[in-house]
Order: sequence, then structure tokens, then C-alpha cells
Amino acid sequence: MAIPERLETRRLLLRRHRPEDAPALVRALDNWAVVKWLAEVPLPYTLEQALDWIALTRTAWQQGRDYQLLITLKPGGTVIGQIGLRVDTPFEPVERSAELGYWLAEADWGHGYGPEAAGAMVDFGFRRLGLDRIRATCLPDNHRSLTVLTGLGLRPAGKTWLHFVARGATLEVLELSLDRATWRASMRADTAPADPV
Ligand SMILES: CC(C)(COP(=O)(O)OP(=O)(O)OC[C@H]1O[C@@H](n2cnc3c(N)ncnc32)[C@H](O)[C@@H]1OP(=O)(O)O)[C@@H](O)C(=O)NCCC(=O)NCCS
Repeated sequence: MAIPERLETRRLLLRRHRPEDAPALVRALDNWAVVKWLAEVPLPYTLEQALDWIALTRTAWQQGRDYQLLITLKPGGTVIGQIGLRVDTPFEPVERSAELGYWLAEADWGHGYGPEAAGAMVDFGFRRLGLDRIRATCLPDNHRSLTVLTGLGLRPAGKTWLHFVARGATLEVLELSLDRATWRASMRADTAPADPV
């Protein structure tokens, strides 16, 4: 089955990156309030870094390693964030899993766009990528993101340590996880899916 490069929700269009999106990434990410929650994003965040990231996302998608999409508002297409699933590559894989990550520009918090985009991405991961498990990591004081993740059905699955580039510190993070069978059962409980799972 072909992997769609655009996902649509009620208010959002999630789509692939283009080089001309770089200034929007800089406007959103050159901000401590956003970046402090993200392990890999440096601060300050420059146009050059945004262009490098966009090039990386394009290669990683083609190689099936990382499926990152920009979150844009319908209509108009304003870029408000990013969401993605990075496929895990364990030495001896027993299942196919990926890590969910996302951010929104600070001005766009509080409207439910995060849960809306993340719901579409989880659906994409299980239905289109055929994943067995979706994982996430989250700082324990990131209550807003934890609400999003647990609302999607991800459950605590341990703790680990991550280096946060902008903080210059290695911090303990919560690990959360949702397996395909649990997700499918929650889908059945909600509504019948449009496509077979
Ligand atoms: C995390 C993020 C994507 C959330 O998206 P959002 O659209 O702002 O989410 P919302 O404001 O709609 O809130 C989602 C839920 O959190 C709840 N919430 C909001 N503020 C909260 C707080 N301080 N504590 C606990 N829950 C909170 C909302 O009520 C909502 O719950 P509901 O769906 O049950 O009503 C966004 O805040 C963000 O980009 N943060 C910075 C980057 C980040 O943290 N990325 C994730 C790293 S793990």
C-alpha cells in the first residue's frame, strides 16, 4: 500500500517539508518555550539548521527511516508545527516500532491542534506504516504533552535518559508506549475504522 504524503484532519493538513518552509521553522523553533521540551533541537535555531533539517527529512522519508510532516492550518496553509514517526532500528528487531515526536509554535498552543495532529499520526503509523508499537518519550513536567500522549492511549513504559541539546543537560524522561492490539481494540470501541486494520 502506498504511503500517503499528506494527512488531513478536520482543521489541519499534514504535509511533507519544502525548502521554502525553513523561515516558518525558524520562527517557531527559535523559542526557548518550545525547544526546552525537545531533546534534539538547538537554540538559537537558525535558517541554515532549518534548511539542513528539511533536506534530512526528505532523505529519511525516501529511505523509510523517519516520517516527518509539517502541521499546517486549513485553509491558508500556515505552518504551525511538525509531527513525525521515527522508525526504530534495533539490532535484533522483534517488532516494528517507531517514536512519535511533535511540536507546535507557541502561539498555536491550547486549541487542541496537538491532539488532532497526533491522533492522525498514530493512525498513519498503525494503518499505513504497519507498525506494531508506537513509543514516545516526554519530560515528566511536560504536562500538556503527557495529556496528549495518554489521551491517545500511550501508557507509561519506564524511564530513560536523554540529552537535551538546548539545555546542555542529560535528563530523565518518561517512556510511553501503545501497541497495535491495544490501539485496534480502542478503535473498535470508538467507531468502526474506514479501512481494515
Ligand atoms: C505538546 C503540544 C504539542 C500540545 O499541543 P496543544 O495543541 O497545545 O495541546 P492542547 O493545548 O490542546 O492540550 C492538550 C491537552 O492538554 C491539556 N493541557 C493543557 N495545558 C495543560 C497543563 N498545563 N497541564 C496538564 N494538561 C494540560 C489540555 O486541556 C488538553 O487536554 P484535553 O484534550 O483532555 O482537553 C504543544 O503544547 C507543544 O508544542 N509544546 C512544546 C513542544 C513539546 O512539548 N513537544 C512534545 C515533547 S514530548
